[in-house]
Amino acid sequence: MKFFLDTANLQEIREGAALGVVDGVTTNPSLLAKEKGDPEEILRQICELVDGPISAEVVATDAAGMLSEGRHWAALHKNIVVKCPCTVEGLKATKLLAAEGKRVNMTLIFSPMQALLAAKAGARFVSPFVGRLDDVSTDGMQLVADIVQIFENYDFDCEVLAASLRHPMHVLEAARLGAHVGTMPMSVLSALVKHPLTDIGLKRFLEDWEKAKKELGARAR
Ligand code: G3P
Repeated sequence: MKFFLDTANLQEIREGAALGVVDGVTTNPSLLAKEKGDPEEILRQICELVDGPISAEVVATDAAGMLSEGRHWAALHKNIVVKCPCTVEGLKATKLLAAEGKRVNMTLIFSPMQALLAAKAGARFVSPFVGRLDDVSTDGMQLVADIVQIFENYDFDCEVLAASLRHPMHVLEAARLGAHVGTMPMSVLSALVKHPLTDIGLKRFLEDWEKAKKELGARAR
């Protein structure tokens, strides 16, 4: 399973990249708007920090506009993947961008059929928003399961990118279901590392080591 960071914050991306487990980054207009600075420059820097797919989202709502923004994003850096929303216009733009060899991440996916359409149009990734479905009392993870199964049934060359993952259990479930990618905030990635028994165990190892060293020293004197 690939891990992407869901952020446009360079400091967080540096921290995550240092862990050695970050395979890509997803941004969106809301995440970029939170950061100070020119979005284009931020995206360029992200591409230098992480050598993997970096999603940059279009904000046009018509296919022609999405195509032109998508071309612009893709020209920024070889790592850029163009993010298009799952709308009629988004599907048209995906088809055109894919025909030009540009990778598309179709975002704002809330139903299995939207994902099937995205894959048929040539998207390389689909982003089902798990947390946002959970927010409206719908099982977001079931959507991931359905899409994984449909893509397996038809052998689509399109990766399921579980998005809007809010906590470690979301990541665990997505991994169990075989999602190809999970994108998560840095806080969730950090939480995956931690276990209280690891901390307790490490503390005990270090204390025992110190004790043994002192005893050795005392015997030598
Ligand atoms: O990758 C999609 C993500 O940015 C949305 O997450 O937590 O705003 O639903 P959230």
